[in-house]
Amino acid sequence: MSRDLIEAALAARKRAYAPYSRFHVGAALRCEGAIHAGCNVENAAYPQGSCAEAGAIAAMVMAGGRRIDEIVIVGSGEAPCTPCGGCRQRLREFGAPDLDIKIVNTEGVLLLETTLEALLPWSFGPDHLVQNGDEVSDGTAS
Ligand code: THU
Repeated sequence: MSRDLIEAALAARKRAYAPYSRFHVGAALRCEGAIHAGCNVENAAYPQGSCAEAGAIAAMVMAGGRRIDEIVIVGSGEAPCTPCGGCRQRLREFGAPDLDIKIVNTEGVLLLETTLEALLPWSFGPDHLVQNGDEVSDGTAS
């Protein structure tokens, strides 16, 4: 079922630009049937680097997407490459608490399957900004 997403994450990882950490990461998400992928892009000014998940989310938004239905992440090494704290919050913006998160190794073998709620309990998200019954904008320019 997630084989296409796993393949997309593995392919994205091959595009990673990680000369400093040499820790190559790929991420691929499904949004209403479409797949969007990203890789980590590091920078000589270290804090300016960006994570694979951030790239995949940017690709989704660029395509007009607003909902992450499923995501696969692949890092380096045998320990599951769980999303960093910042990326958990990024996923929270577009993912439901039961968002399925799969971490695979570089062979595409599943190392961990979890949910956004498990990784980021008691999270703060768009729903917290709903006031007086007003809907939060979907963020699109009018
Ligand atoms: N990295 C990701 O791209 N995603 C994660 O979930 C964890 C870490 C990247 C950031 C940096 O380029 C490298 O992995 C080492 O931290």
